Amino acid sequence: MNRIYITTPIYYVNAEPHIGHAYTTIVADVMNRFHKLLGFKTFFLTGTDEHGDKIAQAAQAAGIEPKAYVDRMSGIFRQTWPKLSIQNDKFIRTTDPEHIKVVQYVLQKVFDAGEIYFSAYKGLYCVGCERFYTERELVDGKCPDHDKPPVEREEANYFFKMSKYQDWLIEHLASNPNCIRPERYRNEVLAFLKEPLEDLCISRPVERLSWGIPLPFDNNYVTYVWFDALINYISAVGYPNGEHYRDLWPVVQHLIAKDILKPHGIYWPTMLKAAGIQMYRHLNVHGYWKTEAGKMSKSHGAVVRPLDLAPIYGLDAFRYFLLREMAFGLDANFGEEALVQRINADLANDLGNLFSRTLAMTARYFDEKTPGLGSAPDKMDSALRDKAEDTICQYREEIPKLGFHKALVAVWECIGAANRYIDHVAPWNLAKDAQLLPRLQTVMRTLLEVNKVVAVLISPFMPSTSAKMLERLGVEKKTADLRLAEDTVWGSLKEGTRVIKGESLFPRVETNKVKEKKKMEVAAAPGPDTHVIDMEIFQQVDLRVGLIRKAEKVHKSEKLVKLIVDIGEERQIVAGIAKTHSPEELVGKQVVLVANLKPVKLMGIESHGMILAVSDGQSLKLIVPEGNVTPGGKIS
Ligand code: MSP
Repeated sequence: MNRIYITTPIYYVNAEPHIGHAYTTIVADVMNRFHKLLGFKTFFLTGTDEHGDKIAQAAQAAGIEPKAYVDRMSGIFRQTWPKLSIQNDKFIRTTDPEHIKVVQYVLQKVFDAGEIYFSAYKGLYCVGCERFYTERELVDGKCPDHDKPPVEREEANYFFKMSKYQDWLIEHLASNPNCIRPERYRNEVLAFLKEPLEDLCISRPVERLSWGIPLPFDNNYVTYVWFDALINYISAVGYPNGEHYRDLWPVVQHLIAKDILKPHGIYWPTMLKAAGIQMYRHLNVHGYWKTEAGKMSKSHGAVVRPLDLAPIYGLDAFRYFLLREMAFGLDANFGEEALVQRINADLANDLGNLFSRTLAMTARYFDEKTPGLGSAPDKMDSALRDKAEDTICQYREEIPKLGFHKALVAVWECIGAANRYIDHVAPWNLAKDAQLLPRLQTVMRTLLEVNKVVAVLISPFMPSTSAKMLERLGVEKKTADLRLAEDTVWGSLKEGTRVIKGESLFPRVETNKVKEKKKMEVAAAPGPDTHVIDMEIFQQVDLRVGLIRKAEKVHKSEKLVKLIVDIGEERQIVAGIAKTHSPEELVGKQVVLVANLKPVKLMGIESHGMILAVSDGQSLKLIVPEGNVTPGGKIS
């Protein structure tokens, strides 16, 4: 059986979890769920890094003992992940006794092999980073991460002979070009390796730092934080003799951001080599999430708390946004507005509409039951099936290469194709003619199958949405038991299975209503500028192109006509155009309408939007698009 072991960095407990930590951990979760979908045996590890100066200082600032402090903070991380639908198999803490034992075992092993020596050292030390810097690494004499000048410090310490492994590492990276990915980070590591590598200081005198793991060969010293932290990846799976370790090492996929490339790209490989342990399979490095206030990091404190936004907008929407918005390896901007836009466009409009239209029509035309195979598929049906099958291939190829956003783009192209298919085939027209029932069966069955494929493909990204969709499609399997190969086979839905129409998957997010109202008030207030409005106010008006499907005069009214307008979904609109436009001439016409008006009742009939028209005092002319536009097209 194929196996994969996925890790995140273990996070420092001197700050609460934020979006950066959440991103890496969600990516790891997506990778883990994706490999389960492929039938792999998987193991997913995350945890907390709890020793070192910074943690000791944070505990002191909080006025409690380090152990009490790390227990509390580690607990916050541990409780955060399930709230983001993250299912890790293990949560490691560097204060776990088993971890401490393994760190001491590895240190002793490397010491006994003669790879650790004792020496005096004088250098420039950054307290924030807990490490010595070379002059070359400083920017304007300051630590590049903390923007502070380092302090001069002299110390006798233990050193790991890292320099000895420089040539081996260069050779390893040359013969395993994929080992550090994306390529830009492998190149960055190779650039470091162009300069002579220095030996790595791996200890701190206990009188300066007592909050660490004692060196097994000298208890006047504790272990430097990186030598302790990196070993978590093997201690967590039971190195040296544990069954899990034998099973899972070295098929490991480490996930980190670019901030900790050097320890993972240089210290860790050389440590593994010195300890006689095989090199990891891949180091996967992503970019940084930035907010307007600048990058969010250990030191700058501009932090968006994932838990503040995730429950407001929904966990799945939040996960989708993070994976869709960031190209793995590059930086991305985080903004609430961008999140809302993605929810409204990709989730409510594209996915939500496809699913609700499919189920609503199945309910209406087939009494809520999956129809059997009808007439032979025509060109359009086959094209949609091909599209779905191509999407599965693309998805299968992209995710192992870290192309999460590309996999999602592919799935959304398929969703778009399915929505266009509905518009072209117009099942509501087929439903009017009993002779076309076999054709309608094929069309609805095609749509149900596409929805099933989409539900399976999104399961690693949006597990609860996927589960909801499958349940409503009448698929009995739990998402955890899904298998890509079996469960995306075309035609696997069973005739006669009951589907559940249910509510929309993703209601559109109304932008902050209070803010909106205030802006309207300001815009409407009399004053010299009443004739101009902010772009933002205009953007709040959802203008769409609609196709009039049905029109009938409203009983007892001269002016009103009741319309069914297709804007990607069917809308009922009551318009005051009956005097100038007969129902017959309206059907089939494309119009422009305001789609987000509060519904009103006119002559007792609900109207969900307003058709735009212009009057010159005598006649009324409808505003129409220049050429044929897909119904629902947004006007901007
Ligand atoms: N404890 C070390 C890691 C030891 S691993 C053996 C550490 N901890 S950390 O709390 O600072 O976490 C750093 C990691 O958090 C990054 O590598 C990344 O996974 C995540 N992120 C923190 N801020 C981030 C962003 N602004 N954007 C994206 N991810 C970031 O370093």
